[in-house]
Amino acid sequence: MADGFDFDVLVIGAGPGGYVAAIRAAQLGLKTACAESRETLGGTCLNVGCIPSKALLHASELFEEAAHGTLAKWGVKAGNVELDLDTMHGTRREAVKGLTGGIEFLFKKNKIEWLKGLASFEGANSVKVGDRAVTAKNIVIATGSSVTPLPGIAVDQERIVDSTGALELSEVPSHLVVIGGGVIGLELGSVWKRLGAKVTVVEYLDQILPGMDGEVRREANKIFKKQGFEFKLSTKVTGAERKGDTVALTVEPAPGGAAETIEASHVLVSIGRRPNTDGLALDKAGLQVNNRGQIETDHDFRTSVPGIWAIGDVIPGPMLAHKAEDEGIAVAENIAGLTGIVNHDVIPSVVYTNPEIAGVGLTEEQAKEHGEVKVGKFPMLANSRAKTNHEPDGFVKVIADAKTDRVLGVWVIASVGGTMIAQAAQAMEFGATSEDIAYTCHAHPTHSEALKEAAMAVTGKPIHI
Ligand code: FAD
Ligand code: NAI
Repeated sequence: MADGFDFDVLVIGAGPGGYVAAIRAAQLGLKTACAESRETLGGTCLNVGCIPSKALLHASELFEEAAHGTLAKWGVKAGNVELDLDTMHGTRREAVKGLTGGIEFLFKKNKIEWLKGLASFEGANSVKVGDRAVTAKNIVIATGSSVTPLPGIAVDQERIVDSTGALELSEVPSHLVVIGGGVIGLELGSVWKRLGAKVTVVEYLDQILPGMDGEVRREANKIFKKQGFEFKLSTKVTGAERKGDTVALTVEPAPGGAAETIEASHVLVSIGRRPNTDGLALDKAGLQVNNRGQIETDHDFRTSVPGIWAIGDVIPGPMLAHKAEDEGIAVAENIAGLTGIVNHDVIPSVVYTNPEIAGVGLTEEQAKEHGEVKVGKFPMLANSRAKTNHEPDGFVKVIADAKTDRVLGVWVIASVGGTMIAQAAQAMEFGATSEDIAYTCHAHPTHSEALKEAAMAVTGKPIHI
């Protein structure tokens, strides 16, 4: 028994934040339980987020490559390419089952008790999970986030879907209208576009992908347009009416103006996510949320109530699985009396479209607010491997402090941008200068050489342009 409590650590939520925190706490010798109300572990990411969306992105890319891609150019004749959507969905489900089952195995291996059910606070150290009341010396809130609803648009998961419904569509939409040109809209829009849908993205702001570097946002928009996406920027949706198998969407310019109607076979609502705190009875623990519904913590993930900690999508910061995972490790280490740290200045983000769009650190706009910067850019068209592979779109951009040359941000649009950004994150974590990257030997021929050349371009001396 842990100091008279049932557990040393009780984690609420078994997403990438919660399950990782539970495993690390157990590894550190703490008696650990994890409450999860879903039928399977892994949270949003494994069940209805990162993993199933990447499964469909991979599958749809294979389909598109075979049906309309470069295979024929390389002398690979695929014949009549047909889509078997049921099999595609089956393989997606298998991927999810394998990974969520893997977390269950890890829980058993680490002797973590899974308390099945919805958890709510009874006091600062006590929680009810279903009918069971448990106490814990430390409680970690890792309840994640859910889809933000759009007032006036009722999701029916058939014709008007959120991201979960968009993963399950049983037919390829003839016309998918995506509300919100963010990460989900572009990833899932890409899936259905590749499988044959016409896709229109309606975005409230004047540009897609808020939060990313301005030049990257503009270039991404151009690339998606070239792929056949239609965009209605600076446009708001004011209503959606389902009429049998179609949906009539009313849209108007964001600042106001004449309304128009767009007819869609399917609508995806992807305007963001909001933290999950409803039903937790936070008030019984003496906790409050901020005006964005998030639980505030200090740098060590302590909330305002001693013994209660919070991590992942439910606290401020980017809503990303790897951020939640790193916070999960750090919070467990802090609870165990070690020093758990997450460097929130170096959290990479990746949009898994084709090409992938990735960034870490500051945008050029943000960096300029801090002082003078030097920027180096290198186009993927001039990278031998990307050119050979017929992957000409995109560039790498390195932003460095003009005085110290320290790298402040790196942005990549490239077929393997998500893989390339790891190197940039590591360099930044080590406090690298652009010269450090430029003088690091990169294997040839790799896409990563474009990062080296962009770093060389910071001081004006790339070789291949
Ligand atoms: P979650 O994963 O949301 O897990 C929280 C868990 O807590 C849930 O399982 C929930 O059932 C449980 N829970 C909530 N309240 C209670 C309660 N009271 N009692 C018991 N259990 C409770 N991020 C990336 O980094 N890369 C990606 O490629 C990516 N793709 C995504 C694609 C989609 C379609 C979506 C929707 C999201 C994607 N994300 C991606 C975001 C990522 O899924 C989240 O950032 C991540 O899951 C957050 O982890 P978390 O542990 O904070 O919360
Ligand atoms: P998002 O915040 O990325 O994008 C939402 C978009 O909707 C924004 O461009 C916003 O301006 C727009 N918008 C908001 N209200 C609108 C309205 N009324 N009409 C039209 N447009 C409107 O949110 P998204 O795409 O829903 O994703 C949610 C979260 O999930 C993100 O925070 C992201 O971090 C995470 N995620 C991460 C992925 C990854 O890492 N690859 C993949 C998918 C999701």
